[in-house]
Amino acid sequence: MPVDNPAMIPQILLGWYDRHRRHLPWRAGPGDPAPDPYAVWMSEIMLQQTTVAAVKPYFAAFMARWPTVEALAAADDADVMTAWAGLGYYARARNLIACARTVAHDHEGRFPDDEAGLRALPGLGDYTAAAVAAIAFGRRAVVVDANVARVTARLFALETPLPAGKAELYRLADSITPDDRAGDFAQAMMDLGSGVCTTRSPQCLICPLAESCIGRRLGTPESFPLKAPKTPKPHRFGTAFWIERGDHVLLVRRPDKGLLGGMRALPSNDWATTDPALCGAPIAAVWRDLGTVPHVFTHFSLDLRVMGTTATGDTVPDGEWWPIAGIGEAGLPTLFARAASRAIAASGLIQESG
Ligand code: ADE
Repeated sequence: MPVDNPAMIPQILLGWYDRHRRHLPWRAGPGDPAPDPYAVWMSEIMLQQTTVAAVKPYFAAFMARWPTVEALAAADDADVMTAWAGLGYYARARNLIACARTVAHDHEGRFPDDEAGLRALPGLGDYTAAAVAAIAFGRRAVVVDANVARVTARLFALETPLPAGKAELYRLADSITPDDRAGDFAQAMMDLGSGVCTTRSPQCLICPLAESCIGRRLGTPESFPLKAPKTPKPHRFGTAFWIERGDHVLLVRRPDKGLLGGMRALPSNDWATTDPALCGAPIAAVWRDLGTVPHVFTHFSLDLRVMGTTATGDTVPDGEWWPIAGIGEAGLPTLFARAASRAIAASGLIQESG
């Protein structure tokens, strides 16, 4: 549905942003020098499917340890993967390394300054290329993340449910994106979505765009964006193997391709729709059930059973023996960090089986 005064929206929203914007470490304020494209890119990769609160400490740690794209390009893959541990969606970390190397080696350390050039870099999809072009380089680009999508869908009372309405949503966002300050405009929409036009309880009384908002006029802003009915997530089962030797435990590195690729982990079998039990165990042993860790991934949920034993005899499975007391420094992704905690909590059981 058309809003009454679309031409006013950027001006009103930018005025609100200048007064109420969140002060985030990767942002430049009004009058500040342009932000560092490396910092903007880093923040945008980290913020994909991840909250600002979760990203802040990782952003600070990465920028302190690898302050330039050249420094990151020269880093060891394993160090970057370990530093990323806990942030999730690990393909991002592998792409982060690949992208830093492309920029350092093929672009003399400078990020391309338009959407098309950015889109060609590893790990930059439509959204990220638009965000970096607008925020770091002041380009006019249409930036649609989940917050921008929600605000726009409400503003225009978008009638087509998502994801089918994606192209229409993009056109609507395009229709209100200004030529100047497109990066600030995008971040203003994000801040409005995160602090005012929230998923469950939009605060229309304090919203600078309330006058223009059709969703509000209809009385049901929270119903937008309309969503197609959800198909339930499939469920899988798997087993992680906790193998102690002295005060060490066996860790492996997962193959680069696939879920949690390139990350350190406990050995585990293939996760399946029926319980794979001890299939794929790295050694023949007497196993104790140490408990089960439930976990939800984007495309499926998982029950990961943790089976424990003590390695005896001469057979040494592939992997590295990691000190159990220092397991917190292994850079395990959250699923395996929780499996390790479960095993340590139950370690009395393993001693008995030794
Ligand atoms: N989410 C993605 N990019 C963001 C940004 N630049 N500011 C706040 N939230 C974001």
